[in-house]
Amino acid sequence: MLDRYINLLKSSQVVAFPTETVYGLGAVASDGGAVRKIFEIKQRPPDNPLIVHIASHKMLHEITNKIPDKAEKLMSAFWPGALTLIFEKKPRVLDIITAGLPTVAVRWPSHPLSQDLIARVGPLVAPSANSSGKPSPTKPEHIKEDLGESFPVIEAGETQIGLESTVLDVTQKPFQLYRPGAISRKQIEKVIDEQIITVQAKEVEQPKSPGMKYSHYAPDAAVRWLRAGEAPEDEQTLYLIHYEVPEFEADNIVNFAENYDEMAHQLFDRFRSADHKGYKIIAIEPFPEDVLKREPLAEALQNRISKAIGI
Ligand code: TXA
Ligand code: MG
Repeated sequence: MLDRYINLLKSSQVVAFPTETVYGLGAVASDGGAVRKIFEIKQRPPDNPLIVHIASHKMLHEITNKIPDKAEKLMSAFWPGALTLIFEKKPRVLDIITAGLPTVAVRWPSHPLSQDLIARVGPLVAPSANSSGKPSPTKPEHIKEDLGESFPVIEAGETQIGLESTVLDVTQKPFQLYRPGAISRKQIEKVIDEQIITVQAKEVEQPKSPGMKYSHYAPDAAVRWLRAGEAPEDEQTLYLIHYEVPEFEADNIVNFAENYDEMAHQLFDRFRSADHKGYKIIAIEPFPEDVLKREPLAEALQNRISKAIGI
């Protein structure tokens, strides 16, 4: 089944493939011409670096020779999985991948199809397979919407997690969290027995992780938080509720019933389908403090929603 896509990748083409987080837009990492195509297809600014996806320790050692002990612990705990680590790069890693930075982002995805693919063609660079500025794709249809019906996609249904990986810089002390994801701060801190710090785009003049300065994940509809005490009663607004669940049912009121895994799984698809259905506003109930502390996915959800709101 993969042969056709492997041939495309080996002939410098770009192919969309499933991971457990979101679909990626893959090119062979050692093929500079193919990597350039990713930036063209997504219309991605050239100063926003790409993640290298691997499927073995051998591949990692070809990319970096500086792996801190605590990063090893994180790899044993969470790889393969939704954790991207930023290492110092070896000179052989192409500058176009890292946007000229001395560091490189690396992830070992757990999805069996991505593992097969990488084992057969070598490390793949892959951003999320959406056009820049659109929500990341969690279904093959989302990719076709952005990149065209005939775009080559290895189809494998809906992605399991639905939000992009956690991005953690392990070249800094303490480690710096650039993007929260399914592997939570608490899980990371438990493994390394040390606190990590969050770096927000606005705190750094020159963002350490260039992706932080670009608006992401935004549907055409305006996204806002539901106000305290506000009743979900405007039919033109899509309401995503997960706590104060109303007793009546309506098409425009989506009840996640405190199931945060499901909310993460569906969020980007909800954004896209709200646009198709013509909603002008998406109002989302804020997460209470105790939920933010307790639920592994709440920080990542809050981050993606804030980005869609534009704050
Ligand atoms: O779950 C995921 O991570 C998905 C799947 C396909 O693996 N990929 C993904 O890639 O979300 P992308 O390109 O959409 O997001 C990568 C993020 C960007 O915000 C980028 O700025 C940051 O990682 N990044 C990449 N290399 C970096 C580096 N060397 N230093 C700092 N940030 C980096
Ligand atoms: Mg992306």
